[in-house]
Amino acid sequence: MTKSSTEPKGTLTIRTLAMPADTNPSGDIFGGWVMSQMDIAGSIAAVERAGGRVVTVAVEAMTFISPVKVGDVLCVYTTIERVGTTSISVAMEAWARRNRLADRVKVTDGRFVYVALGEDGNKRPIPRA
Ligand SMILES: CC(C)(COP(=O)(O)OP(=O)(O)OC[C@H]1O[C@@H](n2cnc3c(N)ncnc32)[C@H](O)[C@@H]1OP(=O)(O)O)[C@@H](O)C(=O)NCCC(=O)NCCS
Repeated sequence: MTKSSTEPKGTLTIRTLAMPADTNPSGDIFGGWVMSQMDIAGSIAAVERAGGRVVTVAVEAMTFISPVKVGDVLCVYTTIERVGTTSISVAMEAWARRNRLADRVKVTDGRFVYVALGEDGNKRPIPRA
């Protein structure tokens, strides 16, 4: 966890608005929603690198640093950290722009692993870059 970072690390992969329907009983945004946005962003990065379909195989790390509020714009940044035979590790950071205007704040970081699948649904080797 690098709370002191002032700049996001990685490529901006998705931006989305935190809505009232995504809150937990306390009124903050539900952590599962944030994880879902990170999974979507990671899969976009992994599909691009794998050149086709991927599936999430593991969440290797996940840290919630600050709460996400209704009205925040959630920005997920991705970095391909490692490419194996059939798997890709994607490091991610999510940042929130408070009330859509203010400075951004790092709210989570994590590392998700994806496996490349072929048309038949079986794992397949990832092409060299
Ligand atoms: C992904 C899946 C096809 C892998 O099949 P498998 O035969 O078990 O694969 P393997 O054990 O040979 O592992 C494949 C790769 O994933 C990696 N991997 C497997 N489990 C892992 C884990 N828990 N953490 C990190 N990496 C993992 C392996 O290291 C391997 O990487 P490499 O080829 O780059 O060396 C299979 O586990 C699966 O279908 N899982 C369900 C996925 C899914 O439905 N996701 C959505 C959840 S709702």
